[in-house]
Amino acid sequence: MGASPSVDTGSGATVSRKADHIRINVEEDVSSKGVPSGFERYRFLHCALPEIDLADVEMATSFFGRSLDVPILISCMTGGVPEAEAINRTLAETAQAFGLALGLGSARVLLEHPTALPSFDMRRYAPDVPILANLGAVQLNKGVTTDDCRRLIDLLQADALVLHLNPLQEALQPEGDTEFGGLLERIEALVKALDTPVVVKEIGWGIAPDLVSRLVDAGVVAIDVAGAGGTSWSEVERHRMNSPVRARVAAAFADWGIPTAEVLVAARQAAPQAVIIASGGVRSGMDVAKAVALGADIVGLAGPFLRAAAHSPEAARELAMELVEVLRTTMFVVGVRNLTALRGTNRLILEGSSVDGQAGIVRRYKTRGRGEFLDITEDVVDFARVCGVRNGIIHVASPHTTAAIRINENEPLLLEDFRTLLDRLAPHGNYRHDNLSKRETVPPEEPQNGRSHCQHLLLSSSESLAIIDGALRLGDWQRVFLIELDAPRERQVTLQAVGR
Ligand SMILES: Cc1cc2nc3c(=O)[nH]c(=O)nc-3n(C[C@H](O)[C@H](O)[C@H](O)COP(=O)(O)O)c2cc1C
Repeated sequence: MGASPSVDTGSGATVSRKADHIRINVEEDVSSKGVPSGFERYRFLHCALPEIDLADVEMATSFFGRSLDVPILISCMTGGVPEAEAINRTLAETAQAFGLALGLGSARVLLEHPTALPSFDMRRYAPDVPILANLGAVQLNKGVTTDDCRRLIDLLQADALVLHLNPLQEALQPEGDTEFGGLLERIEALVKALDTPVVVKEIGWGIAPDLVSRLVDAGVVAIDVAGAGGTSWSEVERHRMNSPVRARVAAAFADWGIPTAEVLVAARQAAPQAVIIASGGVRSGMDVAKAVALGADIVGLAGPFLRAAAHSPEAARELAMELVEVLRTTMFVVGVRNLTALRGTNRLILEGSSVDGQAGIVRRYKTRGRGEFLDITEDVVDFARVCGVRNGIIHVASPHTTAAIRINENEPLLLEDFRTLLDRLAPHGNYRHDNLSKRETVPPEEPQNGRSHCQHLLLSSSESLAIIDGALRLGDWQRVFLIELDAPRERQVTLQAVGR
């Protein structure tokens, strides 16, 4: 990427693409459309008596054997074009001054063109902080070897190698590298052969928990979930398209991806011991604090640092200072002394939650129609994590008379059996309720859905689940379903936590 995680073959076209990426990110609106980062769904419960001094707040941590003053990473961006050198130098000096980690842009160009080194060689300006080298994972299928990776790490004096996954960006580019077959095996082999730790990241669409588990099993030590809600690379590529059709194809993905907060919570659950980096749409020190409270070890920002560094070194320093001061102040008024306490806080609550231990929210779902078993378990687990109740009960309720809540196993054939059972007990036929002319009051546009009501009577409107020590008690096979018994529509589910 630019700074492009994709096509860095070192050709003239690549150089112009990298320059395009910087220009577009600085000048255009490249944010994702209609998919927020998810951090806006949370807020901290203010603590009026923190019982610590502001000066006691400690944000330091370590990352790949080096110290950080704050858990912030300048995410991988650029290198390989002349304008990248000044930007990277500003970012490196900012990282060094504020004790942040520094990611470098995709460096395949460097393997073929050693003359590109000055734009990547940032150890000169950031001697003490962790520096992360970067390559497109797909390049492992295109001839990049373990020795190449070692050479890169040595050249850049990097503390870790980041492999980025960007299948959607590659698919949108006419010249993209889309050979992703067998890549996990290659990543695993590389991880085993290298002495340097390997991080895997997305570029803004998120790494779902099933892949997090497979990557961790493959030996990857850190995952940057890089979710949706910030820079959208389909939007960036859209600005590069000459063909209106290709531009429309890119535009179709403006709301693609898993919101960062959502994918972060899921990744932490999937890999409790792994280093998890949260990035994608992190835009303030408050977002950094929320990400840590949701389970991140390190929090990354790309777009905001690029725009600041492209403006001036002073702007980059001011951005870093603002992030640090908002994070410090947030920790103070949440009453947490250090990052461990921030991670364990129960003062991060979902928007709509109340402050008295009776937290409740309403979630909305669009159902696809009769017989749909919509699995809402992750939302319930997510709510349990942040509702502020450590020991108590979560009540999951549908306020509808033709949409039920039930717990069972999510196995497709079993779901078919359930549908058959319901249809046997309340089959197609004549229902008195459908004889609208005989009913006393009939709302406008009343559907004929006596059967849906009868099926609902056999199910239930709610389920209650225990939270013990902050974790939802669900059996291995238990999933929570919202069951649609009528036509497609928007449904609500109330989640309420009671306890302490
Ligand atoms: C100009 C630019 C260039 C980027 N180049 C790379 C890259 O070479 N490798 C990579 O892994 N990610 C790259 N990214 C993606 C970022 O690291 C990050 O995952 C993504 O932009 C989402 O974060 P944000 O919303 O804070 O921008 C780039 C981002 C920007 C803005």
